[in-house]
Amino acid sequence: MNSTKRSHPQPSILRSNLPPASPFPPAWAWFLDEVVPQWVKEHYSPKDSWKKKPFSLQDARFFSQGVEELSELFTEERPQGMPPYFQHPKYRSSYLLYFLPLQMAKFLTLFQQNENALAAALDHGMKTGHLRIADLGAGPGTASLAFLLWLLQNQWYPEKELPLIELYWSDINKDILKDGQALVDQIANSFPKTRGKISIQIEVVPWWKASSYLPHSLSLIFLGHILNESHKPRRESELNWSNLLKRADGGGVLMVEPATRKSSQTLSSLRDQFLESSWIENSSSSFWGPCLHSGACPLSQGRDWCHFSYPAQIPGQWFKFFSEALGSERHWVKLSYLWLSSSHYPAPQASPSLRRVISDPLSQGTQRSVLICEPNAPGRLSLHPKSHLSRGDCVQVHKTVSI
Ligand SMILES: C[S@@+](CC[C@H](N)C(=O)[O-])C[C@H]1O[C@@H](n2cnc3c(N)ncnc32)[C@H](O)[C@@H]1O
Repeated sequence: MNSTKRSHPQPSILRSNLPPASPFPPAWAWFLDEVVPQWVKEHYSPKDSWKKKPFSLQDARFFSQGVEELSELFTEERPQGMPPYFQHPKYRSSYLLYFLPLQMAKFLTLFQQNENALAAALDHGMKTGHLRIADLGAGPGTASLAFLLWLLQNQWYPEKELPLIELYWSDINKDILKDGQALVDQIANSFPKTRGKISIQIEVVPWWKASSYLPHSLSLIFLGHILNESHKPRRESELNWSNLLKRADGGGVLMVEPATRKSSQTLSSLRDQFLESSWIENSSSSFWGPCLHSGACPLSQGRDWCHFSYPAQIPGQWFKFFSEALGSERHWVKLSYLWLSSSHYPAPQASPSLRRVISDPLSQGTQRSVLICEPNAPGRLSLHPKSHLSRGDCVQVHKTVSI
């Protein structure tokens, strides 16, 4: 990588994307330490005599074998693609106990950073009378569950009644969808705000065929951890993105993927394809995040990729247990994402001098710098010894150097 020395005004940090204290809503502990483990125990315990007793350390030890195996499956290179792991009860139960809270934490972190996108979804839902949410490759409905817990926080429309909430879930595995449906029912029935208000429609279809089962206008569309593990459709025509994007109103489309190069570059390439095909408007207001411009993504190929790590203390005694069993307590959530706005609720135009930091600080001798997102190729910004910039932060810059 070439770098050019230069002097320039110091950047001013506009806002850090690091979440404030905690994105975890009050119902988190109830849901993930009580409801989910109890559901797993009642439906996945090998012995009937275990089923009605509270989830215990003995249960956690029993299920941790599956958590370890699934964790290995998710991290190792798989040239042949992912096996259909949810066919096995062992992996459905492990996902519910450990990966569900982990992935929900990622969605909640992004919700906290992009509350205006969720306000757009709610406004659309209020105006149409139905908050319609699609969750493709939903698994147990991770993104929708995170959204429901977020919605239950008091500061959101405390005085207003929620509209009807219609969830449209699709996946290739029916059993995990059913698990998630039962968990949503428990949320719906436990809070006066949501009682009688939530319905779920389930389709067992690959995600690229799901749009034909969806209503014409949706308040929010989620695709969570799906693009990285599903085979591509046989024919490109099956991959009907434009059909899906046309349905996105309100808060738009949120895609979250692992922080790996391949997953992130898949998202970057999709973004560029949407712009080239004019499926989204050529404007920075087409993105809630992370993009601040609508030029070509500088990281859609090559050595670097667009990903973020956010500090997070994921609460919960069982999450802590499984994290420790895997050898490390998690203090970060790592992800790549793309959040498209809808044309009726565009994101605010980014100021032309605003840039997103897309690397950790880089040191060369006494010089420190960061990469920042520019159309086509990353720029490099030298840092004052005292400035603290992290991957994901936004800065106002007046001059940068292309690399
Ligand atoms: C890692 S899980 C993610 C589940 C959930 N969206 C989340 O964020 O936790 C991936 C999900 O994709 C589903 N899946 C795999 N291939 C698929 C396909 N071609 N179409 C739809 N779903 C698929 C799996 O069954 C699984 O539920």
